[in-house]
Amino acid sequence: MSTEYNFIKACWGQPVDRTPVWLMRQAGRYLPQYMEVRRKVTFLELCKTPELAAEVTIQPIDYLGADAAILFSDILTPVEPMGLKLDFVPGPVFENPVRTQADVDALRIPVMEEDVPYVMETIRILRREFEGRVPLIGFGGAPFTLACYMVEGKGSKDFAQIKRMMYGAPDVYASLMEKVTEMDRQYLNAQIAAGAQAIQIFDTWGGIVSPVDYEKYVLPYTTKLINGLNRKDIPVIHFVKGAGTMLDIVKKAGSDVVGLDWHIGLGKARDILGPEVAVQGNLDPTVLYAPKAHIEAEVKRILDENAGRPGLIFNLGHGILPTVDPEHARFMVECVHRLSQK
Ligand code: CP3
Repeated sequence: MSTEYNFIKACWGQPVDRTPVWLMRQAGRYLPQYMEVRRKVTFLELCKTPELAAEVTIQPIDYLGADAAILFSDILTPVEPMGLKLDFVPGPVFENPVRTQADVDALRIPVMEEDVPYVMETIRILRREFEGRVPLIGFGGAPFTLACYMVEGKGSKDFAQIKRMMYGAPDVYASLMEKVTEMDRQYLNAQIAAGAQAIQIFDTWGGIVSPVDYEKYVLPYTTKLINGLNRKDIPVIHFVKGAGTMLDIVKKAGSDVVGLDWHIGLGKARDILGPEVAVQGNLDPTVLYAPKAHIEAEVKRILDENAGRPGLIFNLGHGILPTVDPEHARFMVECVHRLSQK
C-alpha cells in the first residue's frame, strides 16, 4: 500500500520514523550517468523514449537514496501537441508563441494517451520496475507558468508579453488560461490513471506577480486544476517559487503539501500555513556548493525549525544546479536521514 511510504505519509501529515527527502530536478546534468544517456539523444528524444526516460528517473534513486522518484519529462511536454513547435537550447523555445485570441482558438487539447503516450508508458514502466521500492511523483506546470512560456515563447526576465496580455487583453488571457487549465487537468489525471502516486504542480513563475494579482490572475486557475484532479488517494504538492509573502493565498488553492523556496524560514512558513497542510523544502540549492560541514549545519537548522511537526518533506527550494558535485547531493540526503531518525 502506498501509505507505507514515508514520503506519502508525510504528504498526509502522518508521523514517520525519519524525514523523507528528494530533490527537485534530481535526474539531470549534475549526474555523470545522466550525461552518458543524454549524449546519445536530444533532451526531447529522451523525454519521448520511455525506456530511457525510466532509466534516468531511476538513476537518482540508486545513487542518492531519495525517498521518492519524479517522472522524467518536462512541464512543456504536453504543450507541444497543443500546436506549438517546441525546442530546447537548452532552455525551452516556442517558434510560434501565443499572442492573440486567434492563436488561443487554434490551440487544441491533446488526447493524452495518443498525443503523449510516452509519458504514460514511462509511468507504467517505472511502477513495474520500482515494485514498491519508492513512490512515483507525476508532475505538471501550473497553468500560469505554462502560459508564461507559451506567450513569451521562451524564458524571460520581465515577462512583458504575458503581462501585456494579462492587463491589456484580459479576455484573451482568461480564455488561454481556461484552455491550459483544462489541458493540465486531463494531463495530470492521465498520469494518475497510468500509476502516478503523487502529483507535483510547478509554478516556477507564480511569484513574479504581486499578491493581489496572484489572487486575481493565477490562483483561480490553479485552484480549478487541483479541484479537478482525481486525487482521492493521491497527494498534491503545489510549489510556487517566490511565494514567501503570500503563502496564506497560495494555501487557498487547496493542495495537500505546499512547496517552499528558500526565501522564507521553514518555521515561519509553517506558522503561516498551519497544521493542516504539509510542507516541502526548503534548502537553498547553492548550499550544495558549500563544504560538507556547512551542508550538514543547514540541514540541521531546517529540521530544527520544523521542531518535530509532522508533514515535512525535505527538498531543495528549487531545482538542483547542473554544476553541483553529486557527492554533495548524496551527502545532503544522508544528513536528512541521519539527523531526523527517531
Ligand atoms: O525533477 C526531475 O528530475 C524531473 C525532470 C524535470 C525536468 N524539468 C527535466 C529537465 C522536471 C520536473 C522539470 C520541470 C520544469 N521544466 C520546470 C519547473 C521546475 C523548475 O525548474 O522551475 C520548468 C520551468 C521547466 C522548463 C525547462 N526545461 C527549462 C527552463 C529548462 C532549461 C533550464 C536548464 O536546466 O537548462 C528545461 C530543460 C530540462 N528539463 C532539463 C532537464 C533535465 C535539461 C535538459 C538537458 O538535458 O539538456
